[in-house]
Amino acid sequence: MEELLRIEHISKRFGNFYANRDVSLSVNCGEVLTLLGENGAGKSTLMNILIGLYQPTEGKIFLRGREVRIDSPSQAVKLGIGMVHQHFMLVEAMTVFENIILGDRKSQGVFIDREARRREIRELSERYGLDVELEKQITEISVGAQQRVEILKALYHGAELLILDEPSAALTDIEVEGLFAIMKKLVGEGKSIIFISHKMREVMRISDRITILRAGEVVTTVRCGETDGQKLAGLMIGRELSGSQYEKKQVSAPPVLRLEEVRYHEQSKHSGLAGVTMEVRPGEIVGIAGVDGNGQTQLAQLVTGVIAPEKGAVALKQSAVSVFDPSAFISQGVSHVPEDRNLQGLVGDMSISDNLVMKDVDSGRFSLGHGLFLKKKAIGGHAGSLVKKYDVRCTSTGQDVRSLSGGNQQKVILARELESRPELLVAVHPTRGLDIGATRFVHDQMIDARERGVGILLISADFDEILEMSDRILVIFEGQIMGEFSGSNPPVEDISLAMTGK
Ligand SMILES: Nc1ncnc2c1ncn2[C@@H]1O[C@H](COP(=O)(O)OP(=O)(O)OP(=O)(O)O)[C@@H](O)[C@H]1O
Ligand SMILES: [Mg+2]
Repeated sequence: MEELLRIEHISKRFGNFYANRDVSLSVNCGEVLTLLGENGAGKSTLMNILIGLYQPTEGKIFLRGREVRIDSPSQAVKLGIGMVHQHFMLVEAMTVFENIILGDRKSQGVFIDREARRREIRELSERYGLDVELEKQITEISVGAQQRVEILKALYHGAELLILDEPSAALTDIEVEGLFAIMKKLVGEGKSIIFISHKMREVMRISDRITILRAGEVVTTVRCGETDGQKLAGLMIGRELSGSQYEKKQVSAPPVLRLEEVRYHEQSKHSGLAGVTMEVRPGEIVGIAGVDGNGQTQLAQLVTGVIAPEKGAVALKQSAVSVFDPSAFISQGVSHVPEDRNLQGLVGDMSISDNLVMKDVDSGRFSLGHGLFLKKKAIGGHAGSLVKKYDVRCTSTGQDVRSLSGGNQQKVILARELESRPELLVAVHPTRGLDIGATRFVHDQMIDARERGVGILLISADFDEILEMSDRILVIFEGQIMGEFSGSNPPVEDISLAMTGK
């Protein structure tokens, strides 16, 4: 097979820290090469070098056998390299169409033939089954659609090598199928894809070859047909993970959270609640199963005080809630691992330490005079121990949260929310973007919290996670609870059916 890309002995240093060290790998025409590695292993950094966002400290890059310098993202585009980033880079205030043609050399003149552009994009979108609405604003379309826009944009700009950095993390199962179909079509035409994912099952399905990174270095490259998930996990984390099986509990204590006939934007099937009655007891994990966009976001917002119900009642620790306000919920012992860590969970240009104490900064533990004088030492000590306990891979606790790898950002939120000793934990996609070792760790922490008597509401699009973790499973569909399932062997078929409204 013809080789498209080869990188030789690439290293990338930030200060004294090597995010990539002596990395060599190659990608052939018409293949999917997967990069597999723990959170912080250096996958995104390496891709950012290929796309011209970073310059390597050492090493060479060859395209079709010729050495290239990739000084800038526009240079990468010229060379036929396109990337869908882990955190999307679309301009929200613009339409889909404007985003796609952004940076197009053909459109830099005074006269832009918008109609011709539009036709060209429509043709591409039909050819690859990339269904998008060109005139919609980015904010109006789903995450899956935003991703199709990113792919379409890369193809429109002539990408021969497409880099997909955790494209499936936020997609529903159906959207993942769609994405894989598109990927198959692209490699079928001889294009090349570098794919990054933590989901072993997907990796085994879509890859031709897999390169494993550990702590910035290449461990090995294997052909997909000659390995299995267990072996890959071992190579990736350098040790075997034992199987996990959590015991299921039945709890009868009075609930920490109770919703009674709660209604919110009922007419909207995808973003409303249509008479939800449910409860979470201390010491149990209640899992909400459902296809994304059936009211889960609103449910999470409601039980964390972000929105108020239009009808119905909410009670925390058996007293009716009258004020819906996030800080009131926090002081009632409600913790929240939010859906979008960048928007709601973290402040990117603040340090890890400051993010970790963000919610407690007024307390006597970390400041005098309600936040007036910070106890720097106490904050530093606290941050240091949490970073250790939660295995946040960083250079120091003073590092900006923004420069952490995606999975390590998620660990910072989890550390803060679990260590605030909540009575109710609302965890939304808590392991999204985490590697398998970190996922196990978070699950163990959630089980520990349950054993301490914390009531946990787990909302997740990951069906396996719901099955593994939940003492009781409630299925949500179009804002309604379709059924409740419990026990150590929940009926998978029935739950799946309920998720489609049957
Ligand atoms: N600009 C930067 N300054 C300092 N350190 C950085 C910077 N960018 C990345 N790093 C560090 O480099 C390491 C590799 O990060 P990278 O984002 O490449 O990991 P990753 O393999 O993509 O992880 P994940 O699976 O969590 O997305 C991390 O420890 C990260 O903190
Ligand atoms: Mg990454």
